[in-house]
Amino acid sequence: EVWNPNGKYRVVSTKPMPGTRWINLLIEQDCRVEICTQKKTILSVDDIIALIGDKCDGVIGQLTEDWGETLFSALSRAGGKAFGNMAVGYNNVDVNAANKYGVAVGNTPGVLTETTAELAASLSLAAARRIVEADEFMRAGLYDGWLPHLFVGNLLKGQTVGVEGFKMNLIYYDLYQATRLEKFVTAYGEFLKANGERPVTWRRASSMDEVLQEADVISLHPILDKTTYHLINKERLSKMKKDAILVNCSRGPVVDEVALVEHLRNNPMFRVGLDVFEDEPFMKPGLADMKNAIVVPHIASASKWTREGMATLAALNVLGKIKGYPVWSDPNR
Ligand code: DGY
Repeated sequence: EVWNPNGKYRVVSTKPMPGTRWINLLIEQDCRVEICTQKKTILSVDDIIALIGDKCDGVIGQLTEDWGETLFSALSRAGGKAFGNMAVGYNNVDVNAANKYGVAVGNTPGVLTETTAELAASLSLAAARRIVEADEFMRAGLYDGWLPHLFVGNLLKGQTVGVEGFKMNLIYYDLYQATRLEKFVTAYGEFLKANGERPVTWRRASSMDEVLQEADVISLHPILDKTTYHLINKERLSKMKKDAILVNCSRGPVVDEVALVEHLRNNPMFRVGLDVFEDEPFMKPGLADMKNAIVVPHIASASKWTREGMATLAALNVLGKIKGYPVWSDPNR
């Protein structure tokens, strides 16, 4: 699909993206916008090389694509200056290779925060109250009357959560030791107090193990890199409470999924809510059979507002570099 065919700068988007704001922004700034409409969900490196062609000023791409040496050299040969990843995570991008070929990289932080938090909260609640199992039970026609033991789950109120929650106590550990999280947590507590809510307690843990041992709900939000690969492994799973809830809305390989399946099998009261998978889009054998797992297809950022915001930010990043404006968001900084 081609917009503004006579535009001076050629910008390629490897996928159709939500909304039209991002297209209009590029057109207004004299770009010819080409959107790949191939049905294939994941484009290969060769598919993308073909899209880049001989002349391309910038590409907007997706987290499912492998942006390494081969693609950045192809983009640079075509005169490209910018790559906008339509994602906040950029583990699919080799930033060193981009630097080597003089291609600026942008990601899309900020617009995902609340949407992702809402999914983490939804998964926590659904896991605590066994919503998916109960739904399957109803649909299978198995409900034949109220019972005192039917689908008894956990009450989140008063429990301790790994990040944020419903009048819950908070214990957190920040791999990056960022002050932003500290400020957020303090502001959250002040807000509850100011509104006459029962104050929650919150504190920074001295180690991740402390969080694992004390929290009833553990929500993971690191980036994926060498230091966070299998951050949650067999040993760390064994430190968690037997009836804890683990939520992962970050990247699949942060959790050793084979160890997780074994843990779920041996601890029927332990529950997990997963938005991401180690071999995405596939699940490790056995995971789909676990009643104590809720699995959804990487939808943490899937609200209309957020996805349109991500598309716009990705386009702005590419446009900024082409036109010499400051790049909106650059993981190098
Ligand atoms: C991201 O942006 O990194 C999410 O995983 C997808 O929205």
